[in-house]
This record gives sequence, C-alpha cells and structure tokens, in this order.
Amino acid sequence: MHAASTVDEARHTATHTATAAPSRASRPGRPRRRAGSVRARPRATTVYSIAHAAAPANYPGYSVMTSADIKIVRFMGRHLTLSGVTLRVRAHAPEVPGMLSARTVLGEIFDNDEAFRLFCSIAASGEAQGGWENGRIAALVPGSQADLAPKIARHGKDEDKHGRIFTALLRKRGLQPAGVPPDADYTMRLEDAGIGLAHARLREGRELTVADIVIYLAHSRVTEQRASEQMRALCRHAGDRPDIGRAVRVISTDEDNHLAYCHEELLRLAAAGHAEFIQRTLRATALAEIAIYRDVSTAVMAHLGRILGWSRPKAALLATGIQAVYLRERLGGWRRMVSLRMPARRNALGGPAGASAVRAATARPGQP
Ligand SMILES: [Fe+2]
Ligand SMILES: [Fe+2]
Repeated sequence: MHAASTVDEARHTATHTATAAPSRASRPGRPRRRAGSVRARPRATTVYSIAHAAAPANYPGYSVMTSADIKIVRFMGRHLTLSGVTLRVRAHAPEVPGMLSARTVLGEIFDNDEAFRLFCSIAASGEAQGGWENGRIAALVPGSQADLAPKIARHGKDEDKHGRIFTALLRKRGLQPAGVPPDADYTMRLEDAGIGLAHARLREGRELTVADIVIYLAHSRVTEQRASEQMRALCRHAGDRPDIGRAVRVISTDEDNHLAYCHEELLRLAAAGHAEFIQRTLRATALAEIAIYRDVSTAVMAHLGRILGWSRPKAALLATGIQAVYLRERLGGWRRMVSLRMPARRNALGGPAGASAVRAATARPGQP
C-alpha cells in the first residue's frame, strides 16, 4: 500500500503551511522579515526561476535554495522546520497549492482508470507478497516459538485478504490488474536489499531459527508502521469516497493490529534475552526501509504523474516533498519505527481472519 502515503507525505511536506493565512512577512503594514538567503528575493508570481544551483535540475515554478548547508525551499513564503532543517518553498505559480492537496491528488488518481489501475495493482501485489511470506514463515516456525505459528498464519491471511480487496476494487470498475514496474515494487526491493527473510530461504522448507523469527518480526515492525501510517492517511483523505472508503477502513484496522502484534512479540523476545539483537536488527531495517521507501515513492509518483499528465512543476514539487520526507526520517524520524511499546490491544492476531471480509470491505455504503 504505497502510493497513498507517497501522495500524502509529499503533499504534506511540500504544502504543509501553504494554504494557511499569509505569512507575517507578507501582511500589509509590517516590514518584511529578512531571514536567510531568500529574504531579499522579489515576490514575483509568474517568474519561473531557480535561486541556487544546489538542486540537480532547475524546475520552473518554484525556487530551491541552499544556505549554510541548509537546504531551503520557498513555497508561498511559508516555512516548515523539520528536525532542525528549515524548508521554505515559494511557488511562483498561484495554482500550485490547491493542486497539491492530498485529497485533490488522490482524487485525480482514483478518478482516472489507468492511475487507479496502477495504484491498486501496486497495492495488491505488495499485499499478496506479504501474504505469501507470512504463510511460509508460519509453516517453518521453530518448535520453541510454536505459539507464534497461528498468529503468523493469521497475519499472512490478512495480507492475502488485503490483496484480494484491492483486486476486487479493480474488478468492480471493470479493470484488470496491471504489471507492477520493478522500481515501484516496495516488497521486492526490500528483499533485494537483504531486509527480512530471503524468499530463497523461505522456499527451502528448512525450519527457521529464533534469530530468523526476530528478523521477520523486525521487518514486520518497520513495514507495518509504514502500512499503518499509509492506511490512516488514506482513511483521512479518501475514507469518505463511496468506492474505496470501506476497503481502506477495513485494511487500516488490520494494519494497526499487525503493528500491535509486532510490538508485543518483539517485547516478549526482548525479555527472553534477545534485546540487543532486536535493536540492532530494527535499526538496520528501518534505515534501509526509509531509503527504499523514498526511491519507491519517487518511482510511483513518476509513473502516476506520466499517466495523469502532471506538469513539470507539479511533479518536481512532489518529488521534492518525497526527498524532504526522507531527510526528516533520516534525521531522526526513523526512530519511531524502532521503539517498542506494549500495545493497548494484546494478542491482536489471536483470532481467525474475518469471514467474508473482502465482500464486506468492497461493498458500497448501503449494500449488505
Ligand atoms: Fe496489508
Ligand atoms: Fe500488515
């Protein structure tokens, strides 16, 4: 479930304050605030320019500036401070803020058959791969962790169910799943980077070790955090759409449960003497994931942008937002993915997967 968060975070980072009240510096009767290297620039609204050559390319429509090793982007004169780095974005084109709202961008994707097809196909493929991995791990759990097997199996069934939900959304619109571009395949890119258990190992049929279980749970802890955040973003910005609202709410609840399960099981293993290995594995997994997430996000947005015919400034601004998200995560945001807290809901995967969940999740409001 990748494209949703890409849109949301890129939009959030790029336009966090863009539609709020005018900045103090622009209010009449007040002197303009002079800060950093952007302070003296004229507030042209139609001039396309780049103020500094720090960026690899000059994008029309907004300015990218660097000052004292701090990357500064101006956007409608508003500022965004992340982990001590000040981002400023100034759009010269007045239509930029509206076209970057998460709701608008997601609406564009969901209203276009080809974009919707790619979005759901990427999501379905990632979920199905997760389902397969969990199914194999459940079958290979070592005897000392036998209690985990049914929970891992349930985890796998949930992910399979999510894949079927996204496929059902496609079919309801008369669409067939599309191939997933390799550069947009989050799950495979994680595996290629050596994160989690290799598929070749899972195909071997040899019993896993406790260390393997830690690697699996650490991988899940990090990726379920991402999934939980993505689905919450989708609920926030598209949960009221009749076509996908119920589906994203069902999946969001599941992803929250998966995350709770990972916290609980990792804490149990930490108490059993594996704390140091768990922390080391979580850290390596999170740092790799944030870079892969950035790269996959960039690829997904490029594919969607081509389908939707986004203008160069719009595509470039969203790409800048993705880079800023990575910067925020690399400067400390990754730590949220490695902390362990006992969840309010214990044994979240203790029961069977919901019956008829796919049909219920993809029914329109009012439908049984
Ligand atoms: Fe999922
Ligand atoms: Fe999940």
